Amino acid sequence: MGDSQKLIRSVKGVKDVTPEMAPKWRFVEETALETLDLYNFREIRIPIFEKTEVFQKSIGETTDIVEKEMYTFTDRGNESLTLRPEGTASVVRAYIEHKMYTKSGAVKLYYMGPMFRAERPQAGRFRQFHQIGAEVFGSSSPAVDAELIIMLMDFFNELKIQGLKIRLNSLGCHECRPAYRDALHGYLKTHVDSLCDSCKARIDRNPLRVLDCKSAGCQEIASKAPTIDKHRCAACEDHLDKVRRPLMDLELPVVMDPGLVRGLDYYTRTAFEVVSGSLGAQNSVAGGGRYDNLVEMFGGPPTPAIGFAIGLERLISLVDNSEIEDYYESAPDIFIVSLADEAQMRIFEIAHRLRSNGYRVERSFETGSIKSQMRKANKSGARFALIIGEDELFKGVATIREMETGEQKEAPFGEIITVLDEEFDIGA
Ligand code: HAM
Repeated sequence: MGDSQKLIRSVKGVKDVTPEMAPKWRFVEETALETLDLYNFREIRIPIFEKTEVFQKSIGETTDIVEKEMYTFTDRGNESLTLRPEGTASVVRAYIEHKMYTKSGAVKLYYMGPMFRAERPQAGRFRQFHQIGAEVFGSSSPAVDAELIIMLMDFFNELKIQGLKIRLNSLGCHECRPAYRDALHGYLKTHVDSLCDSCKARIDRNPLRVLDCKSAGCQEIASKAPTIDKHRCAACEDHLDKVRRPLMDLELPVVMDPGLVRGLDYYTRTAFEVVSGSLGAQNSVAGGGRYDNLVEMFGGPPTPAIGFAIGLERLISLVDNSEIEDYYESAPDIFIVSLADEAQMRIFEIAHRLRSNGYRVERSFETGSIKSQMRKANKSGARFALIIGEDELFKGVATIREMETGEQKEAPFGEIITVLDEEFDIGA
């Protein structure tokens, strides 16, 4: 590499999943799919970008996400588009677009993939990050809220993650939230001088946002602010109680947190986060809640709904490596060593047959000395080397060598699989 050539690096806050890390991702994703399947969820694949308006109103004009964090651009047709900062708004858009409200019963959907927020990168906070999300449409029953949280904890339990807590709150409804909003607004007005500039600008339009502000000064004021629990109506109290009780009965680690508001505006009633004691400042592994007005806000029929999303980077950092040992064996079963140029055609044929029979096969693309070839076979971690030199080619056989014992057998080309099965007891 010359001095003049500057290395191109990935974008700040955007990470590769390297081949060393990928098995852990696969393990977590496959475990999630198994859990979602047991709870009878169906997959939806939503686009990576949408018209900007999909996110603007739903997430809320005065949220950090919409105010400062969206990757918004104008495309060639002069349309404003945005890389999705989250999945819920897109799923709601799709739910209405495909008239899923005409289906009977609750519609239960999940999605997974990258999300984009121009946040200040730090441990556990990225600009491209990944979520697995689930959304349930069509029921206002608190049983749905409870079951979603139970499913989430089932999944974390499958991954053997310890030390999690469920922070649970109810943000009230159109009946009781206005009075709370007024009380909060009144309190914040008396502390306006100590708020950050964005909170100063938004307290009149959306005082709840101050409670979720990341600045230290606002957090201090928020910690003494009036809380929603004193203002909730009887129906919201009852709903919350029916969410909480099954969780307590199952001895899940629920903590009631009347200060929890979450960073998105669409929530009504139930709001929750699952937090870990081992994650530092960015301790929320998953978050979600009810959004009973959102479908209607998008122009659909009134449809109660609730969902959550899990942050995969944070979750994966909590999964113990011992959980994925042997999950994906990365060594091949067989490494084919070729010592003669003329053996190449044979190797294509043999490798193809082995792979069709379920063996994981690696091969040499060079025809070097036997010593250097065997070193490669050894390094690959393969259990067997299959050696085809000039002698073997002449005789129409391959030498099968078990790497660990050094035991060797010759097998006619047509009988390699039989010899592997019978002599070495390797059923793929
Ligand atoms: P959220 O709380 O914004 O909710 O994100 C959910 C999870 O995504 C967080 O708990 C966190 O683990 C992860 N996350 C968020 N931002 C970042 C980031 N910059 N870097 C790394 N991880 C991050 C939602 O997105 C809602 N759509 C959840 C929902 C679904 N509510 C109802 N349905």
